[in-house]
Amino acid sequence: MTNDNDAATNESRRQFLQKAALTVIGAGIAATGLCRCQTEAAAAGLDDDGAKPGPPRSPKVKVGKLSDFKVGTKKSFAGSGFEIERRGDKIVAISLHCTHKGVLINPSSKGFACPAHGAQFDKDGRVTNGPAQTNLPWYSVTLLKTGELEVDTSKVVPLGTSFDVKKKK
Ligand code: FES
Repeated sequence: MTNDNDAATNESRRQFLQKAALTVIGAGIAATGLCRCQTEAAAAGLDDDGAKPGPPRSPKVKVGKLSDFKVGTKKSFAGSGFEIERRGDKIVAISLHCTHKGVLINPSSKGFACPAHGAQFDKDGRVTNGPAQTNLPWYSVTLLKTGELEVDTSKVVPLGTSFDVKKKK
């Protein structure tokens, strides 16, 4: 035997169960879509950011013969994340990774500019505009017995440290 209250209770219980079922189905569809995206990204060899990781790079990069570096020569090794430049008798290597979030920066008229959030650095890598708070790292430059210069991105040196062409060290 049912009364009006029982009928109303049964009706609201039925509505509740229908809504709960739809919520579960919706969550399942969303999770399946997410899994499919992650699976497809993994199958394509992409990492979480959608970038395709390359083989691990050595921190030591041969950048060319010392004799190739005439005064004013500037070479970008964006793939290894630095720029090397001969300034008079000094050769310097400066990181090209923004110290805010690591985005690759571009040369600008005053030094370097980050395309991500607008940080700017002078030609020595000093922060001139945030949001970056830290200067760009400088890297060790050495001369190999082969006559080639090598930049070691695992060796950060104090800002202003350079390879002296005359002293060859
Ligand atoms: S990553 Fe360069 S300013 Fe944010």
